[in-house]
Amino acid sequence: MQGISWIILSVICFILIGCEPQEVFQSQEDAPPSEQTVPEDRDMERDKEAKGQEIEGNEIEETAIEPPDALLQKFDTDNAVSQLKNALNTIGYDLELTDNFDEELTWAITDFQLQSEDLVVSGVYNKSTREELLLYMENDDMIEPGEGLALPPKEPEKTETGIEISSNPYDELALINKSFALPDDYIPEDLIVPDVPFPFTEDLPQKYMRENAAHALEELFAAAEEAELEMFAQSGYRSYDRQVDIFTANAAQHGEDHANTYSARPGESEHQTGLAMDITSAEVNLTLVTEFGETEEGKWLAENAPKYGFIIRFPEGKEDITGYQYEPWHVRYVGEKTAKYITEQNITLEEYYEEQFE
Ligand code: DAL
Ligand code: ZN
Repeated sequence: MQGISWIILSVICFILIGCEPQEVFQSQEDAPPSEQTVPEDRDMERDKEAKGQEIEGNEIEETAIEPPDALLQKFDTDNAVSQLKNALNTIGYDLELTDNFDEELTWAITDFQLQSEDLVVSGVYNKSTREELLLYMENDDMIEPGEGLALPPKEPEKTETGIEISSNPYDELALINKSFALPDDYIPEDLIVPDVPFPFTEDLPQKYMRENAAHALEELFAAAEEAELEMFAQSGYRSYDRQVDIFTANAAQHGEDHANTYSARPGESEHQTGLAMDITSAEVNLTLVTEFGETEEGKWLAENAPKYGFIIRFPEGKEDITGYQYEPWHVRYVGEKTAKYITEQNITLEEYYEEQFE
C-alpha cells in the first residue's frame, strides 16, 4: 500500500514541476540580470585555480602553490618555471604562465631581489630567493612590482650612438658588448673586494667585483693555488667615467677604430658590470698580453675557469663575433651552468644568446 502512495505522490510532483513555465536562453546576453552570476562564477573558478585549488565535480581539492625547489635562470625551459611564475603571481606579479624563463621573469626575479634587503641581486632564482618568496607567501605579503627595477620599456632605450641600453644591468647573464650597452649611471650595489692576490696594495675601484662573482673568483684562485700556480687579479670593476678616460686615452694614441678592437667604448665594457676580472701572472710581468694564454697560469685558467662560473670572454678565433681581439686574461662571471655550456660548445656569449632565439 505504502509503495502505491509514493508512486501517486511522485506523479503529482512531476506534473506540478513540469507545468512551471521554462525559459530557454539562447546565449549569455539573453539571460536576465539575475542569471548573470555565471561570469562571476567563472572568475571564482579562475581565482581558485590561481590559488591552487582543483575543481572536480563538486569537490574542491586544495593544492598549495609552492615556489619550485630548483635553481632556475634565464633561458631555462621547464615546468618548474611556470610553477615559479605562478608563485610570484600570488604576491602581486602578473606573469604569463609559460615554461620559459624569459626576460620578463628575469625582470621579476631581479625586482623581487632588489626589494628584499638580504638577497644578492642576480636575476637568477636560487635557494635564498626561494626562501624569501616562501616567507612572502606564508605571511600573505604583497610586492609592488617595479619598485625595485622598473618594468622594461616597450621600446628599448638607445644611447646617443644608437646602441640598445640594457633595461636590466643587474642580470648576471647580461650581454654587454658593442650592440648592448649599460646605462651610464649604472653602479653595481654589491661590490666587494675578493680575497685574492693583487699586484698593488691601494684600495682602488678595480679591486672590486660583484658579490657572487667575487666569491667565485676566490674559489678559482684557491684552486689555482692548490695547483701551485700564482695568478694575480689586475682589473675588475670600472665605472662608466673611468671607461671614458681609458677609451679617450687609447683613441688618442691609436685612433678610435683601432682602440675599439681592444678597448670598449664607455657603457660597452663588461668591467662596468662588476662581473669581469683581468688576470695575469709573473711570467708575463703582470701585464695583460696575449702571451699570457701560453703560460701555465693562462692554460690552467682557460681550462678551469668554467668550473667556477667564468668564461674566457674574448677567445682566439672569435674576434669577428665578439668585436675584440683575443684576451686570454679577461674572465667574465656567468655562473657555473652557463660557463660550462659555453666552454664545452666552444662558443661566445654572443653565440649563446643567438642560440636561445633561434
Ligand atoms: N678590454 C675590454 C674589451 C674592455 O675594455 O672592456
Ligand atoms: Zn678586461
